Amino acid sequence: MDASRRTPRQFRSAIVPAAGLGTRFLPATKAVPKELLPVVDTPGIELIAEEAAQAGADRMIVVTSPEKRGLATYFDEQPELENTLAQRGRFGLLEKVRNAAKLLDVGTVVQRRPLGLGHAVLQAESVLGADESAVAVLLPDDLVLPHGALDAMATVRERFGGSVLCAIEVPADEVSAYGVFDVAATGEPDVLRVRGMVEKPAPADAPSTFAAAGRYLLDRAIFGALRRITPGAGGELQLTDAVALLIAEGHPVHVVVHRGTRHDIGNPAGYLRAAIDFALQREEYADSLRGWLHERLNAR
Ligand code: UTP
Repeated sequence: MDASRRTPRQFRSAIVPAAGLGTRFLPATKAVPKELLPVVDTPGIELIAEEAAQAGADRMIVVTSPEKRGLATYFDEQPELENTLAQRGRFGLLEKVRNAAKLLDVGTVVQRRPLGLGHAVLQAESVLGADESAVAVLLPDDLVLPHGALDAMATVRERFGGSVLCAIEVPADEVSAYGVFDVAATGEPDVLRVRGMVEKPAPADAPSTFAAAGRYLLDRAIFGALRRITPGAGGELQLTDAVALLIAEGHPVHVVVHRGTRHDIGNPAGYLRAAIDFALQREEYADSLRGWLHERLNAR
């Protein structure tokens, strides 16, 4: 369903920062961008494009590194392959092959050096239309399911203005793996006002158990903030520092708490979980995988 029919559309473009080094997936990422690693049979980047399109985006702007320029060619049509599949009557496969190109327009901007997530987002500013007052950012490492978080975030921006982020609630002893929000109630369930954010706090220092989940609906003011912050350790420009600056300047920032699943497919352990989760939802794999998992887990 087109999200714009449910709420006035808050954004047209979805920025997908994908210029990181992917060190946690070496050696595979020597040759394959981690965004193209398949979750069962579909690359993570296509799952992200599906989410963005369902939330009403017309366009996905992939921020790539010079080495990963080929990432967006995944979204090109492949007439030769498509003809072959059609001639062989493989129409189910043909539909799968055509899906990516049909979702939304895909363009790229290049981040020449990995100078941080904030710097990556900043590279996309030059290709936004003058009338785009907000933009969505989807981190391709995070699968947020079921879809709908961006719709809820758009509704919150419509009501409160400013920028809206997505949070998941995590166990208190796991907060140190996340960026954690310092929040205040708004009176609306699962909508919280953000006072600040702490990166990877010790459990005793964590301001809450609400952790960042890789989805942002950012007012265009973020680009000015990204230009006004100074790089942190390693010369990296952090997106969270720019959000913190906006908060300090009185810009409204809220989070929507997502009460579903979130898989971190940017590391092998999370990626495997996502693959198993997705496979268990596929009729053609579920029974045999479930049987094998039972057997495997019961053996010693
Ligand atoms: P991460 O630091 O989690 O991912 O960045 P990474 O650098 O790709 O992977 P590791 O840590 O080396 O294994 C979060 C997101 O921000 C993007 C990454 O591509 C990822 O989607 N990013 C990060 C950039 O686009 N540019 C950067 O300079 C840094």
